[in-house]
Amino acid sequence: MVPLALSLDPRSSTPLHRQLYDEIRAAVLTGRLSASARLPSSRALAADLAISRNTVAGAFDQLLAEGYIESRPGAGTFVAKELPEELLRVSPGAPTSAAHGTFAPQLSNRGRMLASTPVAPSTRDGASACAFRPGIPALDAFPRDLWARIAARQYRQSKFDIFSYGDPAGHPPLRRAIAEYLRAARGVNCTWEQVIVTSGSQQALDLAARVLLDPGDTAWVEDPGYFGARGAWTAAGVTCMPVPVDAEGLSVAQGELLAPQARMVYVSPSHQYPLGVTMSLARRMALLAWARRGGANVLGRWIAEDDYDSEFRYSGRPLAALQGLDTGGRVIYIGTFSKVLFPALRLGYMVVPAGTVDAFAGARALADRHPPGPSQALVAEFLMEGHFARHVRRMRTLYAERQAALISAARREWDGLLEVSPADAGMHLVAWLPEGTSDREASNRAAAAGVSAPPLSAYCHAAIHGAIARPALLLGYSAVNARKIQEGARRLSVAMLN
Ligand SMILES: Cc1ncc(COP(=O)(O)O)c(C=O)c1O
Repeated sequence: MVPLALSLDPRSSTPLHRQLYDEIRAAVLTGRLSASARLPSSRALAADLAISRNTVAGAFDQLLAEGYIESRPGAGTFVAKELPEELLRVSPGAPTSAAHGTFAPQLSNRGRMLASTPVAPSTRDGASACAFRPGIPALDAFPRDLWARIAARQYRQSKFDIFSYGDPAGHPPLRRAIAEYLRAARGVNCTWEQVIVTSGSQQALDLAARVLLDPGDTAWVEDPGYFGARGAWTAAGVTCMPVPVDAEGLSVAQGELLAPQARMVYVSPSHQYPLGVTMSLARRMALLAWARRGGANVLGRWIAEDDYDSEFRYSGRPLAALQGLDTGGRVIYIGTFSKVLFPALRLGYMVVPAGTVDAFAGARALADRHPPGPSQALVAEFLMEGHFARHVRRMRTLYAERQAALISAARREWDGLLEVSPADAGMHLVAWLPEGTSDREASNRAAAAGVSAPPLSAYCHAAIHGAIARPALLLGYSAVNARKIQEGARRLSVAMLN
């Protein structure tokens, strides 16, 4: 049976049977589903996607009629052994997959692989600040006027260098300001020259894999975990091995059993995404020891530390970054301005070992030369003038209030339907569903009621291979005010009860 990672959008105006048809057809045409591969039964697929069997049957009928799949009585449904030549030549006007965009007829092998690599859930649906979409900061509380004043002044008064070609590693004043901030706030051990400014953490993850690994190398990724990391590394030709996360963070022992040959690991130790676990000190030491042992190998092992939302800790002592404990230069520290400022800014940073700076800067220059000069200068001033620290403090208070609003709405509206507990960090909560419920179905029902609540199983890499996670929904609270939180909680409870 082939694993099928399909995503249907219940809010789309395209009927579900058509979306399913498009997804399977695209998988066949791109080679993601190979000839003669067995498809799941319509019953299993319907249950997995939380849609009706009739919807699946409608899509299968169309694919059968067009020769993409064939049914063998008593044996099941299979991808057609031989696709007619003309099926592989998609005409420019032919309908295309809603989820994967237009497929040119002759993609390279890499292009096919890129086109079929899952992107982080909900990055293509366009919706932004609705309850309870995770990972979006309080855009309603962003100091726009201040930002606009600084931008206007810079555009008028800055030296011409920020308008010209710049340093591929980033604008030096911004790199200095980031290094100072990371040393003071996160215990990161670095000089400013080790800071590379990137287009968000996504580019940092991509560069880490392409500069330090080769296609065919293996890496561990947290399971459940962030699809952005797995996607970037898969796209770089790296084989990603999902490694379970427990109450102490990623299990190093499990990783060593599952993929002893791995050369890199993706971790979010400050606040694991999406479960919210903080990696214990013992685990941090075990992971660093794993990386050091790989030092005996000429190529070495690397830890990519994603510190995406560490600014938002509401109680307890903030744990310093894993990078600060590393004495062997094996950690690539990655951070982003997407959560503290705003995601569309597309600015993040990485701290790389001193000996690798030129390689990273060179790879960055080949990809897109360098980050935009004016935006970098603006963020540098924001940091240097203290606006950044002030904004973080204000958002910390606001998010603590919004989390409290969600917890009290949960107590009022969801008794027994969903179980949530306060968290001491982050921008979302995990709401557990009763054992045996389908979180995808619950998420679809929430979406139909206008509430965004991604299912935890969508973040489970092993779920692609058929494993079942404990059902839960992810509820982001940072982007919406208390009134919208209450309204979202009420709609969610109605959706759960129906
Ligand atoms: C775990 C994790 N890391 C990083 C990011 C930020 O990515 P970027 O900096 O590319 O916007 C996100 C955004 O949702 C995330 O969930």
